[in-house]
Amino acid sequence: MGLSRDLAQTREFFTSRAAGWEDRHADDDVLFDWAVSQLGLSPGDVAIDAGCGSGRALTPMRAAVGPQGAVLGIDATPAMLHEAARLGRQAISACALGDVGRLPVRDGCAAGILAAGLLPHLPDPVGTLRELARAAQPGARLGVFHPVGRLTLAARHRERGADAHDMNIDPDRIEPLLVEGGWALEFLDDADDHYMALAVRDG
Ligand SMILES: C[S@@+](CC[C@H](N)C(=O)[O-])C[C@H]1O[C@@H](n2cnc3c(N)ncnc32)[C@H](O)[C@@H]1O
Repeated sequence: MGLSRDLAQTREFFTSRAAGWEDRHADDDVLFDWAVSQLGLSPGDVAIDAGCGSGRALTPMRAAVGPQGAVLGIDATPAMLHEAARLGRQAISACALGDVGRLPVRDGCAAGILAAGLLPHLPDPVGTLRELARAAQPGARLGVFHPVGRLTLAARHRERGADAHDMNIDPDRIEPLLVEGGWALEFLDDADDHYMALAVRDG
């Protein structure tokens, strides 16, 4: 996979953090369950976890779509996918190495997409949101989610020297980005301990 400079930096940042990723935020499972429930998935659906990391959302996604459904996690950092494999997530989903800006799926297949912790790492958020919209059925939901408050997240990125685009999730910016990307904002939950912009695929 040929990497842009941005994606190479993202991969470097997450490679050193991949081992034990979920141990550092062990209480987040409840928030992930809630985030996946907001996608409104049904048995038999196709669900995508864009920027899946260690695959924490893959478990509730599989529970929602059942054995007849399909779950795809995609991430650009091999070490994150190794962590997902170590945690057994490849037994319940397909986990692919790749760029969420070029999803290996056909048009209109997904009923729900989660983008957890992803948007601040996208230099071209509109281009990626359009690609997610391409993969989504009309009426599919997208959850732009963080299991941490927006301001805490930005402070964490500054502390750790992440080259993050935290403004992508600013309350006055997220809706125009989503609309340009082919999504309509359903609600924005900009809480102290989590963030969710839930959007619906136009059309
Ligand atoms: C903050 S982590 C979140 C991981 C996981 N979704 C979670 O919430 O635990 C962001 C993840 O997005 C991935 N990522 C960032 N940009 C990406 C891109 N363009 N394509 C695929 N993955 C990407 C990183 O490799 C990293 O694993």
